[in-house]
Amino acid sequence: MNNKAIGVFDSGIGGLSVVKCIMDKLPHENIIYFGDIARIPYGTKSVSLINKFASQTVKFLVERNVKAIVIACNTITAVAYDTVKQLAGGIPVIDVISNGAKACAKYNRVGVIATNATIKSNAYVNAIHKINPDIEVFSQACPLLVPLIEEGIITHNALDLILVDYLKAFTDKNIQAMVLGCTHYPLIKESIKRIMGNDVVLIDPANNTCSTVIDILQENSLQHSDNNNPQYNFFITDVSTKFQQIGELFLNTPMQNIELVSIE
Ligand code: DGL
Repeated sequence: MNNKAIGVFDSGIGGLSVVKCIMDKLPHENIIYFGDIARIPYGTKSVSLINKFASQTVKFLVERNVKAIVIACNTITAVAYDTVKQLAGGIPVIDVISNGAKACAKYNRVGVIATNATIKSNAYVNAIHKINPDIEVFSQACPLLVPLIEEGIITHNALDLILVDYLKAFTDKNIQAMVLGCTHYPLIKESIKRIMGNDVVLIDPANNTCSTVIDILQENSLQHSDNNNPQYNFFITDVSTKFQQIGELFLNTPMQNIELVSIE
């Protein structure tokens, strides 16, 4: 038994889609969430800046003595995984891209939507090809989606217009599945589904990520199985009413213990 918290981080609110899954599947675990909302979006920033932000966050989580670190951000995974792993020391690190890629194994033609930085890094293509080099992968960067979602625009004509334009990239590609390669996107899943149609399976990497968290905790005897009062602490880097408002949509439950921190 281990009562330390699982540390989960993202550039903003998107990582809460992974937190929701951990809360559901591991209801006894304490969670520390870090959302760098002062500096979001990361997806349009340079590799060196994203690495700098990621190192500051990992140090913050390590100081809080977490027992595992979940990179609940595709962008950070894509460009700063090695930095995170190195600074985590012996703490297990779980990421969304290798887990999202695992879910593609049974398909031949797959689409990936994500931020500019994730698409540019080729991280998904590489991770999917590591599993099966014959899978055809078609990618599309969708840089306007994160700012819209952070603003709470999750059902709106403007969002649909932008989505239709981005998703045009998959017309005639005959994809069987599409990876939601940004942790913000599960919030707009319904709009994506409407445009892509029912024949395309939408893959949310959070599900496999969460299963890997379960496996890693088990393998390392790190579970906290008899805790009936799990603590959830949310740290953010700027004052925001939206964080709570949209966060509660992600988690489907009221959020308490939101604290403002500075990590620079
Ligand atoms: N949620 C992040 C991801 O999964 C992206 C948000 C951002 O651009 O900062 O890639």
